[in-house]
Amino acid sequence: MHRTRRLGLSGLISTIEQFNNSTIQQSMTSTFQDQVQQFYDASSGLWEQVWGEHMHHGYYGPTGREKKDRRQAQIDLIEELLSWSGVEQAEQILDVGCGIGGSSLYLAQKFNANATGITLSPVQASRATERAQEAGLASRVQFQVADALKMPFADESFDFVWSLESGEHMPDKEQFIRECYRVLKVGGTFLMATWCHRPITSATGELTADEQQHLQEMCRVYCLPYVISLPEYEAIAGNLSFQNICTADWSDAVGPFWDMVIDSAFEPTVILGLLQSGWSTIEAALSLRLMSRGYERGLTHYGLLCAHK
Ligand SMILES: C[S@@+](CC[C@H](N)C(=O)[O-])C[C@H]1O[C@@H](n2cnc3c(N)ncnc32)[C@H](O)[C@@H]1O
Repeated sequence: MHRTRRLGLSGLISTIEQFNNSTIQQSMTSTFQDQVQQFYDASSGLWEQVWGEHMHHGYYGPTGREKKDRRQAQIDLIEELLSWSGVEQAEQILDVGCGIGGSSLYLAQKFNANATGITLSPVQASRATERAQEAGLASRVQFQVADALKMPFADESFDFVWSLESGEHMPDKEQFIRECYRVLKVGGTFLMATWCHRPITSATGELTADEQQHLQEMCRVYCLPYVISLPEYEAIAGNLSFQNICTADWSDAVGPFWDMVIDSAFEPTVILGLLQSGWSTIEAALSLRLMSRGYERGLTHYGLLCAHK
């Protein structure tokens, strides 16, 4: 059923694509960070309109079988992450790759804390700031455009560094985690959840050519430079002297998320919103099956890492 609707939409999309050649060529010449910025500048308004303030997977129980409202599933993911990591309080929170501030505001409220969110997208930073004002939290929660690979913060500024689905966008994973370590206070907690590819073991073997092609297409469409496996993140954290490193794979718990996103993409207001958002957003919507298929075939994994300094 989805397939038929998708093919119908594809005809319309190919027409729009022709009108967007200049945009595509422009993005091919810009830096990778510029492309991430443009991707989120263009798509965040529509995402908020359809999905709300959280731009991340939902949690559907450990095996992914729980049925629930999509917004609730996203809040449950935040709560489950906190519970898994044992974080019960925080004073100075850094949200690395903050989107429109969904997690920053949620965590600041929950812990009665200060929070700072960084994003590459000026559109996101300004919408997040507006949301902080609307929530009466502007004195405690701030947002700014900054690169996670070169954060404008002094060493040891935060006691909780949170990164929810931004690691996959980082062109230098080591530098990203090194920066998270640098700005974390001694005794503080770093918690990240990120898109990974499957671990490479002697039993599973290297990624096949077909798997690599699948990942390349996923990276191209969702503006990711490359993804790595969870054991690779763990090794990076280990080399940085992080303590008590814990990892977990929650692919089963979050996998159903993409089917929900696919369903929402066929709502009439979304189709209209897609046409207004430009080609990169349309292409991302047309490629949602890439993500659900990635989970189905065991290629895409959802990795968690928690560690202390
Ligand atoms: C999928 S969104 C997740 C947003 C938010 N964490 C949430 O869950 O609602 C990815 C975010 O990572 C940010 N991002 C990607 N690369 C970044 C970088 N190098 N520095 C700062 N933010 C970055 C994007 O701007 C975007 O806000």
